[in-house]
Amino acid sequence: MPVRVAVPKEVVPGERRVAIVPETVVRLKKAGHEVSVESGAGLAAGYTDRAYTDAGASVAGSGSSALGGAQVVLKVQMPGVREIGRLPSGAVLVGQLNASRNLPQVAKLRDAGTTSFSLELLPRITRAQSMDVLSSQATVAGYRAMLIGAGLCPKFLPMLTTAAGTIRPAKVLVLGAGVAGLMAIATAKRLGALVEAYDVRRAAGEQVRSLGAKFLELAINAEAAGGYARELTAEEKQQEAEMLARAVEAADVIVTTAAIPGRKAPLLVKKEMVDRMHAGAVIVDLAAESGGNCELTVPGKEVDAHGVTVAGPLNLPSQLPFHASQMYSRNAEAFFGLLLDTGGNLLSEFTDEILVASLLTRGGSVLHKPTAELLAQGGA
Ligand code: NAI
Repeated sequence: MPVRVAVPKEVVPGERRVAIVPETVVRLKKAGHEVSVESGAGLAAGYTDRAYTDAGASVAGSGSSALGGAQVVLKVQMPGVREIGRLPSGAVLVGQLNASRNLPQVAKLRDAGTTSFSLELLPRITRAQSMDVLSSQATVAGYRAMLIGAGLCPKFLPMLTTAAGTIRPAKVLVLGAGVAGLMAIATAKRLGALVEAYDVRRAAGEQVRSLGAKFLELAINAEAAGGYARELTAEEKQQEAEMLARAVEAADVIVTTAAIPGRKAPLLVKKEMVDRMHAGAVIVDLAAESGGNCELTVPGKEVDAHGVTVAGPLNLPSQLPFHASQMYSRNAEAFFGLLLDTGGNLLSEFTDEILVASLLTRGGSVLHKPTAELLAQGGA
């Protein structure tokens, strides 16, 4: 039995991505599935209704008609409460649902008995790499963050030898060398900057050096379970701050990406450190959404601190919506494949470890424990 898939337009303000792009529609159709896309769903990302119909999707005039009869609904972000009310009963919702920031919608999904999977809960195991939206969207965010930094910087990034004299290359510092940080480093190197980077995980050093950047070494290795970082002790934080202060002072552009899963982002650039930076320097704080790596960051704003610009951009993947959507769509397609049996039918039980880990709501319950606890604390 072919599966009926719906792709509604995103409703979160400023969101320009779409969950499924036409090239994925072609493959889903080839496998025998039906795809219904809400008119205009891909337009902000550069995918027209015509491109979807050419790929074999049906384009529906409204969100409600796109959802009609759908068995699987693919989204980028969490649907709004009203949209959840329109989901067909028994439909499976898949998206980057960010449960802890969207508790009213989680309660609504639970009460509606919806089965929902949240892609940011996927385990970071090899088999899940093709579905890893955190990695694909962090790749986009790291690239965009570096371009924002270059755009705000009053200097050239590369070294230039011109008739008007020699221009020295700009100094770029990247704090946090995970997926986004490594992409920011690679982008800065392509622009010709001198790049230094720092991460608490020593394993990141090799990756930083392989991109041609200098890795700032500290006698700390804070790699914890699953390859993620652990929180530093008070003494380690002091050592880190002293080393970083020197690098921060010399930098023209700083991109910060440091994160600890499930916790507030670590504070790496304090106000006193910004005070010692030179006028014209730029900080782009990719951790703005989770509390910020810089003390002066205001989420969604550019702050001027005595001539130093501190930018806290939000939802960077949405600023590069064509490729962010394409990568997301390939991730979502791979995940969709896990929801099917060998005959291409929608499974009725979800036992695969990837599905179990990413299952948010099912049968009237919230199955992701931390989210269930947050809801209980809020009395919902
Ligand atoms: P993330 O977004 O959770 O954190 C970003 C970076 O900040 C990390 O590299 C982390 O070590 C660093 N950080 C945390 N506290 C810091 C501090 N105080 N100072 C400086 N840096 C700090 O990380 P992301 O990008 O999601 O990747 C984390 C790890 O997971 C990496 O080792 C990555 O290679 C691995 N990974 C594994 C995958 C797999 O399928 N096996 C897929 C994707 C990532």
